[in-house]
Order: sequence, then C-alpha cells, then structure tokens
Amino acid sequence: MKENYEICHCMGVTYFDIEDALKDSDKLEDAVALFDKVQQATHCSTGCGGCHDKILSTISEIMMA
Ligand code: FES
Repeated sequence: MKENYEICHCMGVTYFDIEDALKDSDKLEDAVALFDKVQQATHCSTGCGGCHDKILSTISEIMMA
C-alpha cells in the first residue's frame, strides 16, 4: 500500500486527496481536465502555485497505475 504524503503545502493536499478526487475519472480524460477536477475538489495549487508540476505528475502517476 502506498504511503500518503503532502503535495500541496499551502492547501495541505495529500497524495490520497488527489487519488480520491480522481476515483471516478476516465483514463482518457486529458491532463488539463483532470487537473481542473482535482483542483475543484481539493483547492490544490491555489496558493503559491509552486506545486503545480508536482500535482500534474502525481495525476499522471495515478492515472497510469
Ligand atoms: S504548495 Fe500548492 S499552492 Fe503552494
């Protein structure tokens, strides 16, 4: 089982929060649409924005799994 860790420090969003926000998503949805969905659900990347790339790579990691 994967360990949880915080990805967006401004909003306290973790790997599991992102995974949860993606659970009904289609693997074929594009990255931008998925990012918007995760952002709406978790408010990630709405502070300093420094986590943006990490959020995107986490989304692709989860969707490829
Ligand atoms: S770390 Fe995510 S918005 Fe600052």
